[in-house]
Amino acid sequence: MVLIQLSSLVSEVSHGQAFLGLCSLLISLIVLLLIRQLVKQRRPRGFPPGPSPIPVIGNIMSLATEPHVFMKKQSEIHGQIFSLDLGGYSAVVLNGYDAIRECLYHQGDVFSDRPSLPLFMKMTKMGGLLNAKFGNGWIEHRQLASNSFRYFGSFQKPLDQKILEECMFFVDAIDEHKGKPFNPKHLVTNAVSNITNLIMFGERFTYDNCDFQHMIEIFSENVELAVSGWAFLYNAFPWIEYLPFGKHQKLFRNAAKVYNFLEQIIKRFSEGRVCNFPRHYIDDYLNKLDKSAGDLGTPYSRENLIYSVGELIIAGTETTTNTLRWAMLYMALYPNIQEKVHKELDSVLGSGQSPSLADKKRMPYVEAVLHEVLRFCNIVPLGIFRATTQDTLVSGYNIPKGTMVITNLYSVHFDEKYWCDPGTFSPHRFLDSNGNFVRREAFLPFSLGKRHCLGEHLARMEMFLFFTTMLQRFHLQFPPGTVPSLTPKLGMTLQPLPYSICAVRRQQ
Ligand code: HEM
Repeated sequence: MVLIQLSSLVSEVSHGQAFLGLCSLLISLIVLLLIRQLVKQRRPRGFPPGPSPIPVIGNIMSLATEPHVFMKKQSEIHGQIFSLDLGGYSAVVLNGYDAIRECLYHQGDVFSDRPSLPLFMKMTKMGGLLNAKFGNGWIEHRQLASNSFRYFGSFQKPLDQKILEECMFFVDAIDEHKGKPFNPKHLVTNAVSNITNLIMFGERFTYDNCDFQHMIEIFSENVELAVSGWAFLYNAFPWIEYLPFGKHQKLFRNAAKVYNFLEQIIKRFSEGRVCNFPRHYIDDYLNKLDKSAGDLGTPYSRENLIYSVGELIIAGTETTTNTLRWAMLYMALYPNIQEKVHKELDSVLGSGQSPSLADKKRMPYVEAVLHEVLRFCNIVPLGIFRATTQDTLVSGYNIPKGTMVITNLYSVHFDEKYWCDPGTFSPHRFLDSNGNFVRREAFLPFSLGKRHCLGEHLARMEMFLFFTTMLQRFHLQFPPGTVPSLTPKLGMTLQPLPYSICAVRRQQ
């Protein structure tokens, strides 16, 4: 009896000791991880200053709402170039026109990489085009896409003619609402994405193609999720991949669906391909892939084809669509500005003549309105994250190779040194005293330097032709008694919250 009691006491003591041992091991492990994290959070020597980070998560929480506005405010405290701690990895933020020009233009080669963040690595393995590391793969993909814009745009007809054909489908679809309220988001998205579709696949999709629409919808949801708190957390602590919850899981699921859809569609549109007679981007890419077979260093691959097609579709659709949606909203909000646009359209085009690119020079007011929409609405407020290709020195600060760089384009468009009263929507800032259009230096919606937007020329054509065709036919107004919110929906791009508008046919 005594023996039994003694042995159970011994076993209790040894269980207790084992438990205590386990606890102290766990605590030591946590302390070690914490020390490692805190060491990681130390700013490199000579690095730009910045707001104080919270242990472990750094400044991530400050980016939850309007990060571009937060960063501009921080630049007023720490200077145009400052740093942020994103949970153990440091990022440099460039604010204002002078700092962005100094880095992206004067040190073009140095600031042209993309950061190897866990999220981008998982999504595109740093291949494709938009996310590709600075080097041969990126050069080849950028060249191929840029040739496609030129060549497939004018394969049968000049690209502006094709855009005008799409504009007609677009205004006819608006007309079907007969001046009643509707949300223009889907219509604008479908019309705009068709221009990239023509270049990628040689075909437009009808506005009732649900599969394509669904793909664009979840893809643009990812554009939003890519800068959510969860995405920053995933970059700082990639092991959260194994948590069963969190918005990053939605991002991964969406990406898998999009890639699967693109794979199918690429297969369909490459049927009947004849070598050396490419009909569109897909054919051209596959020809390059065939020619480089056996070359171990080739950047062309089936995977990179899917990534680059996806990137071109979403980069071309999300941005131009949001610009046009903001433009419609501001025309209804400011009827006096809309009236001036109508007057210019009527005087240049007369009655019944469709707009063409040749008319652009004779429409300075329309140009000024579209420029002011791009400045004021900041479609891509933080650009696309960059990284340095080598150690460098800027304004006396040391920035090591591989540092993530955030370009606050919003701060350029609201830079008081270059813009008078930047918080007011005023197309007149792009006109001289004679009403001629004037270019402004601190206007960078398409960014600057070697990685500046590849689709700028295409986007400018699309915006001008869609906007003028729509306003030539319609007067835009909000449903009686309603004024939509002007607060943007946050993501990599800023878009208006869903709103309803009436497009009433004009009497010309
Ligand atoms: C209003 C419309 C648009 C805006 C405001 C816009 C803005 C931008 C910005 C700010 C960047 C980041 C550049 C950087 O890294 O600093 C970018 C990159 C890019 N854009 Fe656009 N964009 C527009 C339309 C388009 C269109 C129509 C296409 C193509 C169909 C396109 C394709 C790209 C690509 C491929 C890149 C990545 C370039 C590279 O990494 O080399 N964009 N765009």
